[in-house]
Amino acid sequence: MNPLYYSLLHVFALFVLAAHTFMAFANPAPENRKRTMMITGIASLLVIGSAGGLMARHGYSWGSGWVIVKLVCWLGLSGIAGIVYRRPQLRGVLASVAMALILTALVMVYLVRTM
Ligand code: HEM
Repeated sequence: MNPLYYSLLHVFALFVLAAHTFMAFANPAPENRKRTMMITGIASLLVIGSAGGLMARHGYSWGSGWVIVKLVCWLGLSGIAGIVYRRPQLRGVLASVAMALILTALVMVYLVRTM
């Protein structure tokens, strides 16, 4: 498949993941938890699935430093919405952490990326 389709899916799923994570930060009401976990779970799987396609298409190594850092950012961003429902008082800190994870992943792909 043309890598552009993987790129499109990767970025779209990231928007969905970030949007629903920040919706959880804005209103961590227990009745929304199930829906948020379902949507962020599906978006998270689409992010890593499309990343797998991009990795294969471009021939990048899963052991490269920038890829490992992105995997850590993805893991953190995927789990952070679940934390805010259990610790709503931490939502300010968690929102800053989420933004730092997104920025770090972007720096990896735009400034640090090597083979
Ligand atoms: C918070 C998590 C992540 C963010 C914000 C993010 C963001 C992005 C963005 C904005 C692009 C550029 C798309 C384009 O120019 O077409 C990209 C490309 C890419 N991402 Fe991610 N990504 C994340 C997680 C991951 C993960 C976990 C992997 C797994 C290894 C990954 C692998 C890739 C690859 C291989 C590319 C293509 C690079 C290229 O075109 O040379 N990303 N990512």
